[in-house]
Amino acid sequence: MKTVKAKSLHTSVIHAGQAPDPLYGGVSVPIYQSSTFAFESAEQGAARFAGKEKGYIYTRIGNPTIAALEESLAVLEGGRGCLATATGMAAVSTVYTALLGRDTHVIGTDSIYGPSRTVVEKEFSRFGVASDFVDTSDLGNIERCLRPDTKLLFIETPANPTLAITDIAACARLAHERNILLAVDNTFSSPVLQNPLAMGADVVIHSLTKFINGHSDVVGGAIITEDGDLFERLRKVLILMGGTMDPHQAWLVLRGVRTLALRVEKSQDSAGPLARWLAAHPKVRWVNYPGLEDHPQHTLARKQMKGFGSMICFGLHGGYEAGRKMINAVRLCTLAVSLGGIESLIQHPASMTHAGIAKEKREMAGITDDLIRLSVGCEGLEDLQDDLAQALEHVEPTGV
Ligand SMILES: Cc1ncc(COP(=O)(O)O)c(C=O)c1O
Repeated sequence: MKTVKAKSLHTSVIHAGQAPDPLYGGVSVPIYQSSTFAFESAEQGAARFAGKEKGYIYTRIGNPTIAALEESLAVLEGGRGCLATATGMAAVSTVYTALLGRDTHVIGTDSIYGPSRTVVEKEFSRFGVASDFVDTSDLGNIERCLRPDTKLLFIETPANPTLAITDIAACARLAHERNILLAVDNTFSSPVLQNPLAMGADVVIHSLTKFINGHSDVVGGAIITEDGDLFERLRKVLILMGGTMDPHQAWLVLRGVRTLALRVEKSQDSAGPLARWLAAHPKVRWVNYPGLEDHPQHTLARKQMKGFGSMICFGLHGGYEAGRKMINAVRLCTLAVSLGGIESLIQHPASMTHAGIAKEKREMAGITDDLIRLSVGCEGLEDLQDDLAQALEHVEPTGV
């Protein structure tokens, strides 16, 4: 595969891993929709299994189309190796499985994507894994939870859905002083806006389902690292557990990647003005967007991100009921979970994505019942603003 050393990410998203097909010159990477690969002889098969000869064996172990996507994502995140996975949760679970076990402890961001927390608290706990999920935007909270058996610090920044920002470089220092590995879920930023490996993270995770694919038509995940030994450990677990990607899925994501930078920039260009417009609206009680000066970690976001992204959270004066009235009234935005697609999506985490977490724990993590999450897409800003304005007309001036 072609590794492009480009100065601009706009170049890398198009060319990294996406060289013309050497067989016929197809400009789009071919879909190698084959579960298995023929050997020329028994000796060749044996050599491939023994790792003495390069070449494909079986798609759960490796596939050229999936390898092209892995090459692309490794370049975009500045890592040496990438593993594409069936879903974002397969990436998260592979990292947990590889790095945790009996009598180990993980510290995570409390407002992390709901299932990334639930899978530890409900499933990995059955195998002796202990955990603490805290507000990692305050490093003191992490320090207070450290234990001799802590092996992993798993942060999501900006977090889902509170948009709390955690200091990646400070977490890397804190973790590495104690031989703890730092994993960062970079889904909300995409490699366009944030590169955690460059700030000292050991592992980066993505749900490709979101910005990287960007068309709300594929699920997928990825794990990227710079460390060769860690990569081999993760690869072994992924192949054994079977959470690998399918070639057609990889091809669709490769197509999405080519417009990643354009999409992220376009949606972000609308998100800033929309956040400010919402903040000034009389029916809106609060707005949370890292680009607003009153965001608690605005200065940190400015330092560690290349842009503030296109996720906005807000609450109305009328709380839960007013919020539900509003999201039921949108016409252009789609009422759906997920994020990072070309179309704007709006949802209510307390009754949807984070409903599996007890109300008390949700509220401790800042996921209040009135929180509405908006993933700004690539539509025109004026049309989005008109849609939110008409939806807010359905809410009484007093709130509800
Ligand atoms: C931040 C984040 N990480 C991980 C995931 C899990 O990804 P998937 O749904 O592709 O399994 C999601 C899904 O919403 C997410 O938002």
